[in-house]
Amino acid sequence: MLINHPSILTTISGSLLIQSIEDTGALGMPPKAYPRLTNTQIEKIKLWVVQGMQQGIDCEANCDDTLQAKYAKDIFPIIQNNCIGCHGSSAKTILIDYNTILTQVNNGKLLCSITHSDGCLPMPQNLPQLSSCNIGRIRNWIKSGSPNN
Ligand code: HEC
Repeated sequence: MLINHPSILTTISGSLLIQSIEDTGALGMPPKAYPRLTNTQIEKIKLWVVQGMQQGIDCEANCDDTLQAKYAKDIFPIIQNNCIGCHGSSAKTILIDYNTILTQVNNGKLLCSITHSDGCLPMPQNLPQLSSCNIGRIRNWIKSGSPNN
């Protein structure tokens, strides 16, 4: 029976879990008397679900900032997962493809914003800072000349 297939069970229980911790209404978890999980905690659980809810997994394990990050495989997915929601084609600062990202690299704003440095707005706005590993990968990619690779 299809429902017994472990990956399907995983998908169903994972989406129920996310639904319950994100729901701010009557069905939300934990129950009303208790504080909601923080956004950072919710994001961490979502990342764990997306990666298959494995036991003993380090959600950052596949992030290695000592390797040279590549644009298509590493950098664009970080922007896609953390920035595009607010930085689509109607935003003032557009981050939707290589050229629009390169513009923010060349004017210094990309690195400035994700490292929460002085002189630019801290990003992602009102959300937890990117992991130090992802910041390291973006920094290394910029250092190597931000190639479209
Ligand atoms: C919740 C919405 C939101 C998210 C998510 C978000 N931003 Fe922004 N960002 C804004 C707003 C609003 C501004 C100010 C208007 C503009 O420049 O588009 C801004 C401005 C910027 C700027 C210009 C900064 C300046 O000082 O001029 C950069 C660069 C930037 N964001 C990069 C990013 C990156 C990189 C990410 C992902 C890691 C990200 N943003 C995620 C909302 C967001």
